[in-house]
Amino acid sequence: MASTIIPVDSFDLVIFGATGDLAMRKIFASLFRSLLAGQIPHNSRIIGAARSELSREQFCNTVRESLATFDGKAEIRKGALESFLNCLDYIRIDANGDDGWNDLSLMLAQNPNPVRAFYLSVGPSLFGGISERLAASGIALPKSRIVVEKPLGHDLASAIELNRKLSESFAEDQIFRIDHYLGKETVQNLMALRFSNALFEPVWNAQHIDHIQITVAETIGVDGRGGYYDKSGAMRDMVQNHLVQLLCLTAMEPPSRFEPNAVRDEKLKVLRALDAVDPLKVVRGQYRAAGDQSSYREEAGNTKSTTESFVALKATISNWRWSGTPFYLRTGKRLRARMSEIEIGFKAPPHSIFPDAGPISGNALVIRLQPDEGITLHMTIKEPGQGGIRLTTVPLDMSFADALGERAHNIADAYERLIMDVIRGDQTLFMRGDEVEAAWAWVDPIISTWQESREVPQPYDSGGSGPDMSLALMHNDGRRWREIEE
Ligand code: BG6
Repeated sequence: MASTIIPVDSFDLVIFGATGDLAMRKIFASLFRSLLAGQIPHNSRIIGAARSELSREQFCNTVRESLATFDGKAEIRKGALESFLNCLDYIRIDANGDDGWNDLSLMLAQNPNPVRAFYLSVGPSLFGGISERLAASGIALPKSRIVVEKPLGHDLASAIELNRKLSESFAEDQIFRIDHYLGKETVQNLMALRFSNALFEPVWNAQHIDHIQITVAETIGVDGRGGYYDKSGAMRDMVQNHLVQLLCLTAMEPPSRFEPNAVRDEKLKVLRALDAVDPLKVVRGQYRAAGDQSSYREEAGNTKSTTESFVALKATISNWRWSGTPFYLRTGKRLRARMSEIEIGFKAPPHSIFPDAGPISGNALVIRLQPDEGITLHMTIKEPGQGGIRLTTVPLDMSFADALGERAHNIADAYERLIMDVIRGDQTLFMRGDEVEAAWAWVDPIISTWQESREVPQPYDSGGSGPDMSLALMHNDGRRWREIEE
């Protein structure tokens, strides 16, 4: 079988904030998996940069421990683990001061690799300062890449300011803004499904689609990250980025090629065609305690918090393709199941030749992003048996794990894919600055109205489907959400 590995040039990847939570939980584990997949070329260097006074050995031990925690098999693959640790180096650096910058420069100048990338796994308040120092010190070269991740601002004004700061030191084609949802296998499959099957595109519009619903439900709460979350809430944490990106990929026109600007131009057009949402029609919820599970307020450490852990809203898009077809978005924590999916709800047939069989419901195409990635098409067929025609709906179900067998085991995780795309210099799955700003421009008025009004989020039970008002959001339109279940 032909190799599925696309080789990359050897690289020097500097990870700022290398001792932090994201780096330890995600970045090193993903890089280790890339090494296992044969994606890390010989001589590549992964340089941890952080404030702590650590020797290279101490740093390697910390990474070794974190891999044992987050990758159950890391210890078994001892040989590979040693090769991975051999790629690592560490440098003590002060992001706000002068310490360490010269050492980093010298380290990179020794046997430099063709690709140089900087991953800022630090708070956004440090993005501007670090990028400025990288450019001013000459450590960042004209083709070097910089990687940043959410929160990319907390409103439109701060996002514009952040983009401005980054653009003072790096060109747009050097800036890789991560939304890890874009790195998920099935999110890309959404594009493969839409644009590689002639079947769907002719009916992918308001003429044939009644509505689209996008759900990202989680069972976890905010325990351990309440400090961040309480200032953010579900609207900033999930809707402004992950759900809006899913909406864009579902709604966009076919790009001419799967290339960075072709794809991002189309997503931007969707963002700009989104109608303003009436903030008071957006459902906000906050989970309360249930059984041995704490309430949001307890976990956030703020007894009076009015931050939402759940959002449901109806979005409309003013363009030819979607005028008249609403998009319902819903996300929340501590819900019944972890489930992310997109349902394309088709219109019912215009006329039934089986008048005695009752109303016929439209087909529904469900794209499951996680868990158990796959696609289900709900079809209407005849109920078996005699005595006239009775209709029933059955699922035509495809789980990728079943359909792809062995190949489904090798699916790269989001960070693994995205970090390798940084090294490749491929920005297709990264957000452009104008996209981030357009998404903020859409959610900003909603958030500011909430802040001005005295409205508080609706309480909902942990382990349920969110506040009743979110059910009403669809019921009032004669539609219903899919069940939140595994
Ligand atoms: C992150 C949010 O971006 O995405 C978290 O900050 C959320 O609050 C997480 O839990 C969900 O990601 P995933 O990949 O687990 O669906």
